[in-house]
Amino acid sequence: MIENIKQHINEVKVYTSDNISDIEQFRIKFLSKKGGIVTNLFKEFRNIPAKDKKEYGQVLNKLKLSVEEKVSNLKSALKTADTGKKDFDLSLPGDSIEVGSRHPISIVRNEIIEIFNRLGFSIAEGPEIEDDWHNFSALNFPKEHPARDMQDTFFVETNPDILLRTHTSNGQVRVMENKQPPIRIIVPGRVFRNEAISARAHCIFHQVEGLFIEENVSFADLKQTLLYFAKEFFGEETKIRLRPSYFPFTEPSAEMDISCTLCNGKGCNVCKYTGWLEILGCGMVDPNVLESSNIDSEKYTGFAFGMGIERIAMLKFGIKDLRMYFENDVRFLKQIQ
Ligand code: PHE
Repeated sequence: MIENIKQHINEVKVYTSDNISDIEQFRIKFLSKKGGIVTNLFKEFRNIPAKDKKEYGQVLNKLKLSVEEKVSNLKSALKTADTGKKDFDLSLPGDSIEVGSRHPISIVRNEIIEIFNRLGFSIAEGPEIEDDWHNFSALNFPKEHPARDMQDTFFVETNPDILLRTHTSNGQVRVMENKQPPIRIIVPGRVFRNEAISARAHCIFHQVEGLFIEENVSFADLKQTLLYFAKEFFGEETKIRLRPSYFPFTEPSAEMDISCTLCNGKGCNVCKYTGWLEILGCGMVDPNVLESSNIDSEKYTGFAFGMGIERIAMLKFGIKDLRMYFENDVRFLKQIQ
């Protein structure tokens, strides 16, 4: 008896077919309630001597499972093959593929880069994970100096020497220490500061910083470069003004405002009725910074500037909440192209 069942198991193992009615016949032959081989063998169970009952039951169950498995495998193989043939309706409209669009931050970054390229600035980059020297010390931020409070820093694990860069000025240091003037670069990139996230601030944002070092570079060169940028980016009518400010790496330092793009300087709620919008920080490179990178500060002078891309894009596109840049809602992204 048991031998007989084992033969059936082998028969099931080698069986194959890609014809649905043959497969159905095969199923009926074994599993039909009336006269199926498996059904009959189960009926025999009570005639089996008690000592063989256990083995008989096990082998018979194996046969039943192998038939069920074979039938379902053959059927699903048929289904997959089928969709390739008959079920494919060529007249159905296809799934549309959404066309992507550039992120507003990329659009603005590229435009800023293009404007400065026209003035002969080339692109430099630096690492996002940086050491203290390139982010702070080489830029005339002495250790323990209160100026470090201006940029609340994320440190990497427990090593206070390794941090997430708080500005892209680290890229400028890396160029200065590897190359003698003339240097004319812009450094676009992502920066990190420990700020509470709100409509106007985020702990991750983007900057473009610029650096120009040569003999006889003056504040007038800085002013003219930034005026050119403002007119190219915001429109020919744009005016600029520079207000004295403080950065450790520039002396003198200034913040630059542009005439309000919405009210043209008349006063509105975006410019808080001042007629001016602050867009960037700038100044003449402090001689200490040049000397830190072995550039002769008696011979060379330079200017530097830095701006936040999020802020510039907000002004350009009238975006009110900075968090929208990170939500990546396609409806938002598609409005700006
Ligand atoms: N690094 C400054 C900042 O992130 C910006 C800046 C760059 C200011 C160059 C002046 C000159 O705040």
